[in-house]
Parts: sequence; structure tokens; C-alpha cells
Amino acid sequence: MTELFNTTEPEIHAIYKKNASCIILSGDAASSLKEVPSQSVKLIVSSPPYNIGKEYEKGTALENYLESMKPIIKELVRIVSSEGSICWQVGNYVENGEIVPLDISYYPIFASFGLKMRNRIIWHFDHGLHASKRFSGRYETICWFTKGDSYTFNLDSVRVPSKYPGKTHFKGDKRGLPSGNPLGKNPSDFWNVIEQDWDRLIWEIPNVKANHPEKTVHPCQFPIELVQRCVLALTNEGDYVLDPFGGVGTAMVAAMMHNRKSIMCEKEEKYIEIAMQRIKDYANGRLRIRPLGKPVYSPSGKEKVSQIPLFWQEQKETGKA
Ligand SMILES: C[S@@+](CC[C@H](N)C(=O)[O-])C[C@H]1O[C@@H](n2cnc3c(N)ncnc32)[C@H](O)[C@@H]1O
Repeated sequence: MTELFNTTEPEIHAIYKKNASCIILSGDAASSLKEVPSQSVKLIVSSPPYNIGKEYEKGTALENYLESMKPIIKELVRIVSSEGSICWQVGNYVENGEIVPLDISYYPIFASFGLKMRNRIIWHFDHGLHASKRFSGRYETICWFTKGDSYTFNLDSVRVPSKYPGKTHFKGDKRGLPSGNPLGKNPSDFWNVIEQDWDRLIWEIPNVKANHPEKTVHPCQFPIELVQRCVLALTNEGDYVLDPFGGVGTAMVAAMMHNRKSIMCEKEEKYIEIAMQRIKDYANGRLRIRPLGKPVYSPSGKEKVSQIPLFWQEQKETGKA
């Protein structure tokens, strides 16, 4: 396979062009997607907007929002190839402390278009806002749907080191031989390898968040690593990856990293500019990226933020705690 990105900066096309390696469609996804041919994309991976607003009576806002997403989902189903997948990453819609897990709301919509759910992946992270009237939310989900029963799934590309590689068969012909897979184990539907110093930097030490290798001004961008796993498992080299709500182009960068072509739609020009810069920076070897599979950050206990505050100890001693 010829390297798509082995030389200089890729040409970034502003309108759909067959076989172009990078396409950014500016404007409302509902109309931009009409440019993209049917069955042309192997993977659609996206985190849709769900800032539903409070102008409507509770319930109605959510219903209207889901209704407005249906024509877009219909377009996505048209665009995804027969061996392709849609990965829809969502959290909760929250209204006055009551939560509605959006994957529950989205499932019947995708199912009504004939898509088949293969996994509901839990993306777990350790840090975030601390709730006071419910347990703090520490995961979001990625709903993985396929268009058909025969779909691309490259498990070997995303295997992770097994915990006990030395385990052996204890009976039968293979007794004494290793029982695991030399390439590692299935990463399962619980993804915390991607939980990262990302969250620590954002939530615990806000003043250094700008130092995270990937962080841009976008309030809710994907970690590249999260998309990389989907790209590696669900597409082959040269396939198209599409993010209809592309933000700062994380899905495009993840696609480029693995020699896939990509398309994104985005309505905000400021995010498109950052996406274009990230693509160029990646091509020039200047984009700072958290390496795939880097171990999850765990505090040594020496950091100031991981120590019990002296103030609490004093309060305890004086019976004020
Ligand atoms: C949750 S963010 C996705 C961020 C993205 N995953 C990334 O890593 O940068 C959703 C994005 O969709 C964009 N957006 C919202 N509604 C849109 C629409 N109707 N058409 C195109 N883009 C839209 C927002 O501007 C926002 O950047």
C-alpha cells in the first residue's frame, strides 16, 4: 500500500473529491453530508453535540434534539459501506440533576435504520466534576454499530498485553503450552487504557491544562488514542474515516496516523482552522501526541495534589473536622 502521507503536507479539500486523502466540509453537517457518496466510508466515528439548551420544557428539549439528529443519522447510514461501522460516543444529558444516558435514547434510532450494535463500550476515566447529590460520573459510552453482519474487525491490530502471559493449558494435548495469544488479549469493551493524565491535567491541575500534549481550545475534543483504536480495529489502510461533528480534527489525525483517508464536517470556522493546523503539524512531525498504549498515569504520592492537606489534619486534631 502506498503511503498516503509520506511526503509533505496533504492537500486539504474544502469540497468532496473522490480519493482525496483529507476533506473538510465547512457548515451544517446535515447539508455537507449530501456531498459524500453512498457506501463510501468504512468508519464513522463521532461525538455528537448534545448541548440541548433549556429553552423548552424538560423532556421536549431532548425529544426535539433527537428528532433533529434523525436526518443526519439517515445520511450517515447511507454513507457507511456495507462492511462499515458507526461509533457514536455519548455521555449523559443532565437537567436539574436528573440524567438521561444518551446511548439509551440513541439506540432505537440506529436500530430503526437497521444497524446492529456490536458493543456498548465503556470509556472510563478517573477524574471529573464531583457530584454532591449523586455518584460522580466517571464514564461515557461508545456505541459501536455495524451496517451488516460481515464487517471489518481487525482484533489483532488492537490487542493489549495480557495480564498473565505465562498461563499454560493444564490438560489435554496442549498441556504445559502457553494458553494465551502471543499478540496479547482482546482489549474488551471497558476502555480505561485511554484514561489518562489528560483528565488529571484538566481537572486536578487546571492551570497546566494547556500543557497536555494534545489539548486545544476546543472544550470537548477526543483524545487521539480513543479514535486510533476504532480506526485500527474497524478499517483497513486506504479506507475512509468520517467525523460529521469533527471539531478540531482529532478523527482526521487518527486516520492519517494509520494511513487512512478522512473527511470531517464542522460548522465553526475557528475549529476548522485548528483542525487544518493539526493536520499540517502531524504531516510535518510537529504535532504532540500522547503515545498509543502509554500506561495510565498513577500518582507516586509525592505530588502535592496527592497529599492530604495539612489544614484537614489540623482540623481533625482540633476536633473541627
Ligand atoms: C463534541 S464536539 C466534537 C469534538 C471532536 N470529537 C474533536 O475531537 O475535536 C461537537 C462538534 O460539532 C460541531 N457541530 C455542532 N453542530 C453541528 C452541525 N450541525 N454541523 C456541523 N458541526 C456541528 C461543534 O461545533 C463541535 O465542534
